[in-house]
Amino acid sequence: MSIDASAPVREPVHEFDYLSEPALAEDLHGTYWKLKESAPPVFWTHANGGHWVVTSADAAIEVLRHPDRFSSKFLSIPPNPNQPRMIPESLDPPEHRPYRQLLRPYFESKAIEPLEPRIREWAERLIDAVAAEGRCEFVDALGSRFPVSVFMEMFGFPLDQFDFFRATVVEYFNAQVNEQRRMELTMQILGALTQLIEARRAEPQDDLVSTLVHTDFEGRKLTQDELISIGFLMFLAGLDTVVNALAFGMRHLAEDEALRTRMIEEPARIPAIVEELMRRYTFVSTPRYITQDTEIAGTRVYAGDSVLVPLHMVGWDEKLTKCPAEVRLDRPHCRHAAFGSGIHTCLGIHLARLEMTVFYETWARKIGHFRMTEGQMLHFRGGSVQALEALHLEWEPQT
Ligand code: HEM
Repeated sequence: MSIDASAPVREPVHEFDYLSEPALAEDLHGTYWKLKESAPPVFWTHANGGHWVVTSADAAIEVLRHPDRFSSKFLSIPPNPNQPRMIPESLDPPEHRPYRQLLRPYFESKAIEPLEPRIREWAERLIDAVAAEGRCEFVDALGSRFPVSVFMEMFGFPLDQFDFFRATVVEYFNAQVNEQRRMELTMQILGALTQLIEARRAEPQDDLVSTLVHTDFEGRKLTQDELISIGFLMFLAGLDTVVNALAFGMRHLAEDEALRTRMIEEPARIPAIVEELMRRYTFVSTPRYITQDTEIAGTRVYAGDSVLVPLHMVGWDEKLTKCPAEVRLDRPHCRHAAFGSGIHTCLGIHLARLEMTVFYETWARKIGHFRMTEGQMLHFRGGSVQALEALHLEWEPQT
């Protein structure tokens, strides 16, 4: 084997496999926490074709705030040149901005607030369905159903397709599904989106797809490809995130009696609880593609390399948050990047916060205290969007 003496040396090296490190499956946040404690602020790992990883808030923010050097065009590591464009997440400036401007009005808080009564109805309906049983597997019974219903209604999918959607979503995000099956599922989702776009083109309704189909974008209508790309991203972004946030949050609340009591007795504090749980249990590690030789926090990195930004590291940095391992409501500021930072900061942030707040409020009111079922082994999914795969909960049914 010949060694290329002119190839840049990538160091420091610290091995970390964000997709399949066995420790991630057993204790996801504990493993990321150990990484923060033991790895350099910027390091190279040979896993998954080789890439950089950052572990300090400064380094993470530097990457996220400089899309000119750190591109979003490949949202996977290793980069996949065949990955479909995901508007607006996989676009860089200047292409990104007009699409973001187009979508922003539909996701601002004043557009989202009117959805609250419907979101509350969904939360009540799903929680009522399990309340009398005194137990449930949270992810299956609630976590995965709640955001699917909200998304379908907002986007304009007929609710009689709920079972198809939920089954597709659950299988699509299952880590055990092989690439061929995931491709079939992708085609099913794209097929459902295409049908919906056609139906709304012919007969507009009061939903987001109808609005997007008929809206003006830079003096023209959006193309079918653009509409599908936006729809597919919303599907991925909106459905596999709220469920995970709720599952991590409920796991913590089941074990933290003091915080749970506050959730039940002081519902006005629930938005602060949501934010602090997002900080402590951030679950997205986002990739960027390096477009030029440059530095991250003083470490030399090279054009054509990828860098993984575990967003956890921002909310866990001692320089920004005192005692970051503790979940506390008395912090003057809750600083984190669970929803990203910079131009790609989550567009669904108001919707996600509203869904979570309404869900915890409804749970506190209808169920109150709860605990984890004894003897269960928790299994986590690593990767870019991390998840708790199942969570068995129990409570005393109210009579
Ligand atoms: C707890 C729930 C959620 C979390 C933690 C979350 C997290 C994130 C993160 C970290 C990013 C930035 C990714 C990057 O920089 O590469 C992002 C972007 C995005 N999210 Fe969310 N998300 C959530 C819910 C939602 C929902 C409900 C929707 C909409 C239905 C949504 C739509 C989007 C979109 C469209 C983008 C791309 C924005 C852009 O590129 O300008 N998200 N999200």
